Amino acid sequence: MEVDRYERIWLVGSAVFILTALGAIIASVVFHTAELPEPAGRIEPEEVTSTAPFDKPGLHQREDGSWELVYIAQAWAWTPQQVIIPAELRGEEIRITSTSLDVIHGMKITDTNVNVMVIPGQISEVDVTFDDEGTHTLVCHEYCGIQHHVMGAEIVVE
Ligand code: CUA
Repeated sequence: MEVDRYERIWLVGSAVFILTALGAIIASVVFHTAELPEPAGRIEPEEVTSTAPFDKPGLHQREDGSWELVYIAQAWAWTPQQVIIPAELRGEEIRITSTSLDVIHGMKITDTNVNVMVIPGQISEVDVTFDDEGTHTLVCHEYCGIQHHVMGAEIVVE
């Protein structure tokens, strides 16, 4: 079968692109331990504010001594708006637990690898370690309505 020269170039180019993308996925799993997120639990949106740990949003130490940072998302704000991470928690793993009261939001914390969907009815968990002092912005990266672009919060690492 005769294949036109330009068609052959496109075929080879497409194959190279697909193989490169596949290679990038495999490399991110093997070398950067990328994982698919799993729901950490379910919760009725009406019961969020009366159910632990969401009844006390913010940073707290759990019974086993580990640290947890709890966020509630709702259009168009994060609770809490500002969190201070004390200097002694630098380098410590902190579990971020979040859920939404209304629609789907997305949590992205600048200069970290935190990027997680925050979905009503579902609890999202992600671990983060802050190594350096500084201020991180927590933004919503999932369009959630007319004020989506102002839905931010602040994490200050002392
Ligand atoms: Cu919340 Cu966009």
